[in-house]
Amino acid sequence: MYDKENFRLDGKQTLSHISMVLNRKRGYVELRQDSHNLSGIEPLKPLVRWAGSKKRELKKLTPFLPDKVDYYIEPFCGSACLFFHLQPAFAILSDLNRELINFYRQARLNPVMLYDEFSKIERSAEVYYNVRKRFNSEESSVARAVLFYYLNRNAFNGIFRTSISGQFNVPFSSSRVAEYLSFHDFSASAARLWGTKLSSVDFEPACRICVKKDAFVFLDPPYFAKGERIFSEYSRKAFSMDDLKRLYSLLIFLDSKQAKFLMTFAFSEQVWAMFRHWKVDTLLMRRSVAGSVRKRVNATELVIRNFEN
Ligand SMILES: C[S@@+](CC[C@H](N)C(=O)[O-])C[C@H]1O[C@@H](n2cnc3c(N)ncnc32)[C@H](O)[C@@H]1O
Repeated sequence: MYDKENFRLDGKQTLSHISMVLNRKRGYVELRQDSHNLSGIEPLKPLVRWAGSKKRELKKLTPFLPDKVDYYIEPFCGSACLFFHLQPAFAILSDLNRELINFYRQARLNPVMLYDEFSKIERSAEVYYNVRKRFNSEESSVARAVLFYYLNRNAFNGIFRTSISGQFNVPFSSSRVAEYLSFHDFSASAARLWGTKLSSVDFEPACRICVKKDAFVFLDPPYFAKGERIFSEYSRKAFSMDDLKRLYSLLIFLDSKQAKFLMTFAFSEQVWAMFRHWKVDTLLMRRSVAGSVRKRVNATELVIRNFEN
């Protein structure tokens, strides 16, 4: 149970496998892991909103997952909703987006301070544009993490998009801003980031360096389709056919290391033909159109795996 005075979370009631203490003065979290068993764990909420998040699709993905995950790698982690859902014993979370990973690092170190700071900032268009300006010139990693979370909750569709010069340029979400997580949910998810290795590197080194036998690697790359720029809101450079080819060689490497992998990708005959060497299933998923959370269509997604359940 959560006790606001002492910032104490007793894992016995809320998280069956974890007990942790948030120390307000020193701003750190102690975490003791009692068991590595995945069953019966109450899922945690992802900390950020993210374009292409699999949050709403977790139920559909569950039958395709391994029964037990002790060593988890997610090289395109975004909101890392599958990680927060599964809570594996050890995890490597990586994403090319440096501000996202900086936020995770700061949330893990300073959850109480971060929460206090972003919840003090007024949620209005005028303040939003001032915050956005500050974020683009802020040098302190801690301050940038506070501003990042504010922007994530108040930006149009929670998108993270930058201009050619690298400036965050998403407008204020005038019609609807996202709720903040409760302090309880925020600090519980932030605490779970202890016991994870966080990095902001390309997916290839993220996996190649850390993979080992029996690791489970979940890959959810940005979509690529011939001649289209899909989800280019993640970065200035859209995911390309060359990246897809690199993914293919990476999967061969993961296979050779006897790691398990599961990759999701938008259906296309080209992609299906490329990866059919492994077990390929299809799933109907809700996908946002042009980065819009409201405009969603059912679209077929490929689920590519090298293992059976
Ligand atoms: C579809 S999203 C992942 C969504 C995530 N599964 C979730 O549920 O929130 C793809 C992510 O890949 C990241 N990305 C794009 N290119 C990358 C690369 N070359 N290496 C690592 N990450 C990359 C983007 O920043 C983005 O966060």
